[in-house]
Amino acid sequence: RMKLAVLTSGGDSAGMNAVVRAVVKAGILKGCETWVVREGYEGLVRGNQEGHKVEKETSPSHREVHIKDEGFIHNLRFGDGELLKDGTSDHPTGRTLKGRYIVRVGWDDVRGWFGVGGTLCGTARSAAFRTPEGRLQAAHNLIKEGIDALVVCGGDGSLTGADVFRAEWPTYVNTLREKGDITPAQAENYAHLKIVGLVGSIDNDMSMTDMTIGGPTALHRICEAIDNIETTAFSHSRAFVVEVMGRHCGWLALLAGVSSGADFIFIPERPPEADSWEDEMCKMIQRHREMGKRKTIVIVAEGAQDKHLNPIRAETVKDVLTDRLGLDTRVTTLGHVQRGGRPCAYDRIMASTAPDCPTLQGVEAVNALLESTPETPSYMIGISGGEITRVPLMEAVAMTRSVSEAIAAKDFDKA
Ligand code: F6P
Repeated sequence: RMKLAVLTSGGDSAGMNAVVRAVVKAGILKGCETWVVREGYEGLVRGNQEGHKVEKETSPSHREVHIKDEGFIHNLRFGDGELLKDGTSDHPTGRTLKGRYIVRVGWDDVRGWFGVGGTLCGTARSAAFRTPEGRLQAAHNLIKEGIDALVVCGGDGSLTGADVFRAEWPTYVNTLREKGDITPAQAENYAHLKIVGLVGSIDNDMSMTDMTIGGPTALHRICEAIDNIETTAFSHSRAFVVEVMGRHCGWLALLAGVSSGADFIFIPERPPEADSWEDEMCKMIQRHREMGKRKTIVIVAEGAQDKHLNPIRAETVKDVLTDRLGLDTRVTTLGHVQRGGRPCAYDRIMASTAPDCPTLQGVEAVNALLESTPETPSYMIGISGGEITRVPLMEAVAMTRSVSEAIAAKDFDKA
């Protein structure tokens, strides 16, 4: 039976735990053995250190008798034991980790993960996985555990890494066989790595899917924050410049602006058209004030820029509003409160499935793995027009990159 592992990678986003839960449960229901990888690609490279024994337990609350799965309980939920007590502390985040990163999980291990924010499996930026040596080690670690199917939940960089890993996999298998690290039988059994990607990102910055997992929650957080800011802005008749996340993508800024009736929005893809953005913004805000508005809200995406590609910073916008319009102006940078916290219903549902609903993303990921052959491309699971879709991962990545390239070339209509 297929042994599949799921990992989360890159910046966390609300709904990643719902993905892991859905993949694990769908995998078990479809007869697979299920594993999670801790700390993203870093965990793949580190693998399971020799000599570290894991207690094999039968899940104590195994009420789902129809699910024939032993269940390995590791208390992954709070990362309190396994993750934190070890003496080695060479992890990039400075946290200490015990030597077991690729962990067998059962039904009960992911119970309740639906509503928890962030990623309980952990995520890390792995320098090692960017090297061929690191990826060779990762391949060896997976084969040692008998795993040849991987679900990666992350942004475009993480999904590109997954596709590279899959493309190079046969080379790694050959090298490992030649070195005698794996047997010829293992080389034959694990000749093909099955990979599928799910897009976890608050920025909604991936092409070929209408929505990334975590985007709706972050947008909701921003709207709530702006609602709060608005009441105090109204009281004092002030202007607020609110900086929101979105290094390369203005989706959060744009939609937050639309849903809160902001006066002006700066996003990377569509800079103000006037030669001077200062003039354009001031003219608009002046008009709004003359119409009787007591408060002013300007939203600036982290990656906002003018049409010459010079960055537009919240502090600069504040100075312009103060100096030219005489507005009492404050800056609020929302930062990581946008990214953390419990997922909203849509992110939970999109990531998984519900009874009598069509297949949603986590379940479709397992289907795609089960149907994967050496000839099929690595797929990305997305959503389009309300339908769950399966699109070639690298096509989606290439289209996403072409947007950044168009911006860099100042071709804003194309972007
Ligand atoms: O998750 C994507 C993102 O939110 C970007 O918009 C932002 O620039 C980035 O994460 C910041 O991430 P970190 O603080 O983890 O580097």
